[in-house]
Amino acid sequence: MKKLKFVLLFLLSSASAYAQSEYVHITTPNTSLVLYAKAGETPQVLYYGARVAGVDDILNSGTGIWYDAMPAFGTSAFNEPAVQATHADGNMSLVLAVEQVAQQHNNGVTTTGVTLKDPAYPFYLKLCYKTYDDSDVIEAWTEIRHDEKQPVTLHRFASCFLPVYPGDHWLTRLEGFQLNESNIIEEPLLRGTKMVRNRDGVRNAQCSNPSFMVTLDGRPSESTGNVIAGTMIWSGNYKLLFTTDYANVLNISAGIDEQGSQYRLPRGETFITPTVALTFSQRGKGQATRNFHSWARKHVIPASDKPRDILLNSWEGVYFDVDQQVMNEMMGEFAALGGELFVMDDGWFGDKYPRNNGETSLGDWMVCKQKLPEGIEGLVRSADDKGIRFGIWIEPEMANTRSELYEKHPDWVLRHSNREPQTGRGGTQVVLDLTNPAVQDHVFSVVDNLLTANPRIAYIKWDANMALADYGSPYLPRDRQSHIFIEYHRGLQKVLERIRAKYPDVVMQACAAGGGRANYQLLKYFNECWTSDDTDALQRLYIQWGYGSFFPANTMACHVSASPNHQSGRIIPLKFRFDVAMTGRLGMEMHPKTLTDDEKAFARAAIETYKQIRPIVQQGDLYRMISPYDARRTASLMYVAPDKRDAVFFAWQMEYFLRQPTVRYFMDGLDPTAQYRLTEINKDPKSKREFASEGKTVSGDYLMTRGLSLPLSREFASIVIRLERIN
Ligand code: DGJ
Repeated sequence: MKKLKFVLLFLLSSASAYAQSEYVHITTPNTSLVLYAKAGETPQVLYYGARVAGVDDILNSGTGIWYDAMPAFGTSAFNEPAVQATHADGNMSLVLAVEQVAQQHNNGVTTTGVTLKDPAYPFYLKLCYKTYDDSDVIEAWTEIRHDEKQPVTLHRFASCFLPVYPGDHWLTRLEGFQLNESNIIEEPLLRGTKMVRNRDGVRNAQCSNPSFMVTLDGRPSESTGNVIAGTMIWSGNYKLLFTTDYANVLNISAGIDEQGSQYRLPRGETFITPTVALTFSQRGKGQATRNFHSWARKHVIPASDKPRDILLNSWEGVYFDVDQQVMNEMMGEFAALGGELFVMDDGWFGDKYPRNNGETSLGDWMVCKQKLPEGIEGLVRSADDKGIRFGIWIEPEMANTRSELYEKHPDWVLRHSNREPQTGRGGTQVVLDLTNPAVQDHVFSVVDNLLTANPRIAYIKWDANMALADYGSPYLPRDRQSHIFIEYHRGLQKVLERIRAKYPDVVMQACAAGGGRANYQLLKYFNECWTSDDTDALQRLYIQWGYGSFFPANTMACHVSASPNHQSGRIIPLKFRFDVAMTGRLGMEMHPKTLTDDEKAFARAAIETYKQIRPIVQQGDLYRMISPYDARRTASLMYVAPDKRDAVFFAWQMEYFLRQPTVRYFMDGLDPTAQYRLTEINKDPKSKREFASEGKTVSGDYLMTRGLSLPLSREFASIVIRLERIN
């Protein structure tokens, strides 16, 4: 065996003890991942958890896991292999031994690479890790290449494999469907394998989100217990496996779902798996959430430090009935409420086939002149006159079979040459073949043309309402048809890279029949996600609770809509609707003219209030106290500014029973030694109820350990309290 080449370009000081040793220490401010990586041997995971000073405690306590860092198929796989390949000569076995370790630190970022080689073949797999000096997240992925004479077929290619010490493991994850996304499911991980996956092809968070938390020592708790959490930075099909083996070790593997996606890897190409972001918390799920939020705001989401506009989206106001007059009217009404941006949703385009419903026109991104005689230019002008910005809806990855685009390029859609294409919405929707560079150019030009012709467009809502049903690409050669699921998303990434390079300042929303695309791959390019097509404030509490467990508030689009709600028929007071929507990026989704004068006055004041608390909500740390999932008929959370000088507390009475037990509302995340002045904000001027602590000062310690009782004694009562540190 070759001797270990330990290329140590930089070492964190605490790791210097291992400079010449066989241990690799990957650290963040509060966490450590320790690998055993001796030359010529199979790399092992020893430890992932709270930061350790050195490897001695792990070795001396005998608590190291000592499991393969990337179990390979063919010679010893006991558990599920994380990687499997067929060599050019047909041999199906893989052995991965350490060849080289490199660690580098530049500008606050440390990258670690552990290169593995098959002793019998020129086949290499690099375990890659990236960490930041200011975030408790480890990004992990692998890079696979070979020098074999013919292509190698990759059957499995997990991004990351993580064994976890035996314990009482519980999984927290998000499940749902359109109109009810991101429901939190918590379940014990018993012996055997639990699989979470998505095979939609386009909208990988439509049903199950590619994110998880694993509680290590018992039932999940918000503020106590050890938690490992992960989220895949990938917009396509994925598979998360949680296997509790014969020794009660939990083996977590995360990566692309390989079903139908065997990858023929030619010599000279490097196959880079998607990244998985991992975090560890010693303080329950809440800290895991905050770790992700802080990392995402600092290192993932574009322009995350910029305040997000309060917007009105036209969809639930007029649906497809877009025309110049009604758009102008909505803009005028919204501007008068203090709104900042207007978004014209579906229905504005199509020449030969005007878009009046979901059956036609996707692909024909020219203005429908009958509806909008002055074009987008006229609308932007009108928005300008009213002092607000303008945004627009598109669905550029799609076409309808009734469109000029499809008539011209029937070969641009994913389909089988000997079958009729599968259609979605409207019985005519199809997915464009983004594996094809010409189609990538088309999708780029949809955005580019819109923005070059109308440089004042400030916002794009990018929808995607169809799954990848037909697994056939007219573009890819026969021997690469199994690459479609992967190449589609690589193609999408290329388009988004180009858009972001040319238009860094346009705010973009990822929407996919609602929250079907909430993932960190898209959040590298998109500033926010449409959380759900369900705008019912009561159900949104659950949906937003789930979404917010992994993704920060400034990416969570939350709109106040009409009452009765269009999806559920539920009647909910305007204040409650605002109080729910104000916990994310506030917006509205209705025609404001349907509000009464009193409601308009309330909405105007609420929008003004949100502007005051926007920095705390959009940049603050989230603390969840009473979960709606706990069925206590009430819920509460708060955002605390990083310096703990400011905070906003929210509580909602979701249901009210007479003489129900009184609830104490504890706060969290405050400085216990500080004094905070409490002020109720976003008050309903007609309400007679009193907030007993109005204007009073209470210590952070008291608020967190003794709490408050709140006047929420009726269904859909809600309260928002501003806390300002006074000392
Ligand atoms: C689905 C989205 O989720 C909605 O918000 C809306 O944009 C419609 N598509 C428009 O067709």
